[in-house]
Amino acid sequence: MQPLQPQSVNTQSDIELENIDLTLGNHASRVHVLNDISLKIQSGESVGIVGPSGSGKSTLLMVLAGLEKVDSGKVLISGERIDRMSEDQAAAFRGRNIGIVFQSFHLIPNMTALENVAVPLELAGREDAFVVAEQALQSVGLGHRLSHYPAALSGGEQQRVAIARALAPSPAILIADEPTGNLDTETGGQIADLLFAKQQEYGLTMVLVTHDPALAARCGREIQVRSGQIHAASVHAIQSRTDEDTVQAEAAQ
Ligand SMILES: Nc1ncnc2c1ncn2[C@@H]1O[C@H](COP(=O)(O)OP(=O)(O)O)[C@@H](O)[C@H]1O
Ligand SMILES: [Mg+2]
Repeated sequence: MQPLQPQSVNTQSDIELENIDLTLGNHASRVHVLNDISLKIQSGESVGIVGPSGSGKSTLLMVLAGLEKVDSGKVLISGERIDRMSEDQAAAFRGRNIGIVFQSFHLIPNMTALENVAVPLELAGREDAFVVAEQALQSVGLGHRLSHYPAALSGGEQQRVAIARALAPSPAILIADEPTGNLDTETGGQIADLLFAKQQEYGLTMVLVTHDPALAARCGREIQVRSGQIHAASVHAIQSRTDEDTVQAEAAQ
């Protein structure tokens, strides 16, 4: 049973986007990538973002991580205006608060799994970086792959390393852009299981961009983006998913 969110505590949203507008490209190739997007995500929520290719999903994630500047609007993460921070401030803030997982893993090829996971901890000045990195790898089932280089790991293992790296600094927020997109169905399912297990274990606020309807349906809420706008949103019954929920989620699309 999912414990009820205490209403009196933590009424502040973890993530709040207010009237976000962003146009990218120069004259002929200008694209209105995000068009008046407003969105609140509560602490501990899981949200799936779906929509056609080019609809602005990745850009939306980059905006909420402070990796892409907006033309107008506000981006608040745990009450802080990440859109107003300098690049260095945003990087330090991300280091403490936001873990990011990408479709293509983005591991550093000439570093071992352990070294990859230790990177953000070392950047944060943690003296126990390698101890924490090893624990993080054990917690994703890779305690036996510490000194392997990315090229010697399977896709699923590489994504586990990336998840360990994202979670090792204990962020409250995990964002993932197509985290199963480069994996076969079975491995993708295992990675999805791992993400949701970690979300539950740490009470993470999780935002996933995905093309996989089954993955989106596992999130507490699903948001459809079309041409840079929120086209539709639906709430899923989490923890008690049945075929009926899936049918309802599909009917809502
Ligand atoms: N730097 C850029 N310059 C111009 N257009 C861009 C730039 N980055 C993204 N876009 C355009 O913005 C739209 C949304 O891109 P993206 O967020 O990657 O979509 P999605 O992740 O939904 O596939 C696309 O049409 C893309 O071509
Ligand atoms: Mg994308």
